[in-house]
Amino acid sequence: MSCKKQIFVCQYQSCLANGAAEVLATFLAGDLSDYEIVASGCQGQCNVGVTVRVLPDEIWYCRVKPEDVDAIALHHLEQGEPVQRLLHPRFHPSFDHACDSSAS
Ligand code: FES
Repeated sequence: MSCKKQIFVCQYQSCLANGAAEVLATFLAGDLSDYEIVASGCQGQCNVGVTVRVLPDEIWYCRVKPEDVDAIALHHLEQGEPVQRLLHPRFHPSFDHACDSSAS
């Protein structure tokens, strides 16, 4: 049984249209051998993709771009501090950031 943290990167339709393949490739290209990087199916957050979920932390990121991967790797995975500007408001409502699609 793996004890690695898992990083689920959605690879379904809406997220793919927003660059999910590039986000996944960036995670895979990084020095993240301590983590299991998973190409996932739809995670039900299609309107704010690319969706990235980190388990067992239960941290959900939204609108992730390839250029955000370094910040997630450094601040969250290495330092234990989730990247607040990318947190999904449905799961992390105390944070104020650009993913809130209800604001438009
Ligand atoms: S297509 Fe990615 S969350 Fe649904």
